[in-house]
Amino acid sequence: MKVVHTIKEVREIVKEWKKEGLSVGFVPTMGYLHEGHKSLILKSVSQNDRTVVSDFVNPTQFGPTEDLARYPRDLKRDSELVESAGADLLFNPEPSEMYPPHFTTTVNTTEVTEHLCGARRPVHFGGVCQVLTKLFNIVTPDRAYFGQKDAQQLAVVRRFVRDLNFDIEIIGCPIVREDDGLAKSSRNTYLSPEERKAAVILYKSLKAGKALIEAGERSSKKVIDEITKVLNTEPLAKVDYVSVVDNINIQPIDTIKGEVLVAIAVYIGTTREIDNFIIEVND
Ligand code: PAJ
Repeated sequence: MKVVHTIKEVREIVKEWKKEGLSVGFVPTMGYLHEGHKSLILKSVSQNDRTVVSDFVNPTQFGPTEDLARYPRDLKRDSELVESAGADLLFNPEPSEMYPPHFTTTVNTTEVTEHLCGARRPVHFGGVCQVLTKLFNIVTPDRAYFGQKDAQQLAVVRRFVRDLNFDIEIIGCPIVREDDGLAKSSRNTYLSPEERKAAVILYKSLKAGKALIEAGERSSKKVIDEITKVLNTEPLAKVDYVSVVDNINIQPIDTIKGEVLVAIAVYIGTTREIDNFIIEVND
């Protein structure tokens, strides 16, 4: 596996692959990789002749008060994981390589970004679409892989890829969890041992909400109330949002029907954790 730092090198390598008629899969990441990222890479390796992974903490998707400076980084460990998963190329650019002086072009998606994390992190999805537009143009993959962990991000990516005619198939992959149910996340490393124990409440609350829907409850409000009640039993948890939305347009719904996304964001101490489940209801 090769590790490269410049756009030029990626373009040259991918061009050679394309000349040979090879298909290219792409897994964009911000590094500090774990089993969740690895599951995406393995999926890409299984579906494509070549796989590119990017490892770039994108500054434009962090708000001024967010955790850009303290976001964990470890390129050596990341490259070992990427190589062990069978990928062919790791792209790790410097911010100056991606954003030269006077970089002023933005990519903006509305509607799908209106609620959930989009409402709380106003610059976030603009930054995500901006960096992905660049990465898609640099890597020119046939397929790109995203985790259901960031459900709104996946909906946003599907939307802007469709709207702007990127010829890339977007593949969603299931959430990978720790043994106790906590969704794997690079941000879990911020948690103290006590907070780590408390963080399992996210999964517990979602399980309670899902059980309610499976038992026939169709009122979003009742499901939201149940999840909130469970979250509030944990003194270290502070609810940011509990939402029930349709999984395509990410708009709040009153009645649970169709493909529904139940999503939560919760502060455990100062760490903001997100989790969700999707349920299909046709009755
Ligand atoms: P990052 O948080 O590093 O996540 C990279 C990819 O891994 C995303 O598609 C995310 O949904 C997926 N992922 C993270 N944890 C997961 C888990 N527990 N199970 C399954 N998939 C998981 O998301 C980003 O980076 C950035 O916003 C990026 C798309 C790279 C743009 O900068």
